[in-house]
Amino acid sequence: MAMRPFIIGNWKMNGTRAMLGEARAIDRAAQRLMKVEVAIAPPFTLIHAVHREVEQIGVGAQDCHTGTDGAFTGDVSASMVADAGAKFVILGHSERREGHGESDALIRQKADDALEAGLRLVLCCGESEKVRDSGKAEKFVLDQLRASLPPLEDGADAVAEQIAVAYEPIWAIGTGKTASIADIEEIHAAIRGLLVETYGDEAGSEIRILYGGSVKAENAAEILAAEHVGGALVGGASLSAESFLGIVIAASDIETN
Ligand code: PGA
Repeated sequence: MAMRPFIIGNWKMNGTRAMLGEARAIDRAAQRLMKVEVAIAPPFTLIHAVHREVEQIGVGAQDCHTGTDGAFTGDVSASMVADAGAKFVILGHSERREGHGESDALIRQKADDALEAGLRLVLCCGESEKVRDSGKAEKFVLDQLRASLPPLEDGADAVAEQIAVAYEPIWAIGTGKTASIADIEEIHAAIRGLLVETYGDEAGSEIRILYGGSVKAENAAEILAAEHVGGALVGGASLSAESFLGIVIAASDIETN
């Protein structure tokens, strides 16, 4: 089944209210590019403001804490970001795993709590350059996912609605390097196999597997046309409407699989 490509902008620790104009411009264009599902994950401080400014695109969080509330100074729960207008949460990004010591088990707990709060998940995985050079990238990525994929509701459409997986090789994030199309297809095919094993044939085939790591307008068409690539998680190039929309337009011109 051809999937609707999913293009998510991850603004990371960037953006003040001065960036709301970019969100509005992305939203206006997305209304004309309905073949593509477009979303942005701004920092926590902008979720509510972006949610109020946009009509078409989805708004999500870049992370959440476990639980719903309590004595966790500085943390924000899934139910709190949902209350602010988020519809999804990115979990397990390598900048959380590496910079904040997040384990697969913690990410799995966050996934459970986010689903409980009614959020969709974008679950990230990806190997370091050292792991890639050792020839163990595929095993590494599958182990990460096996340990953090949550059980999901029955029904293929419901499952595919609840979760997307993002493969982001760490050495490609923010570096200008991208994985080769052959490497992307190999890892995405392995992830597809695991999703089918975990959620069954139909649901496992419908879940979108996004690629992330230095995606920009110039390379998006080729990456998005690769087998088992259902969209992109975009960092740097999502910070201006112009560069982000170049990727959305490339996605709109392509039949992903
Ligand atoms: P990048 O980041 O597009 O700047 O490489 C991608 C990501 O970390 O999600």
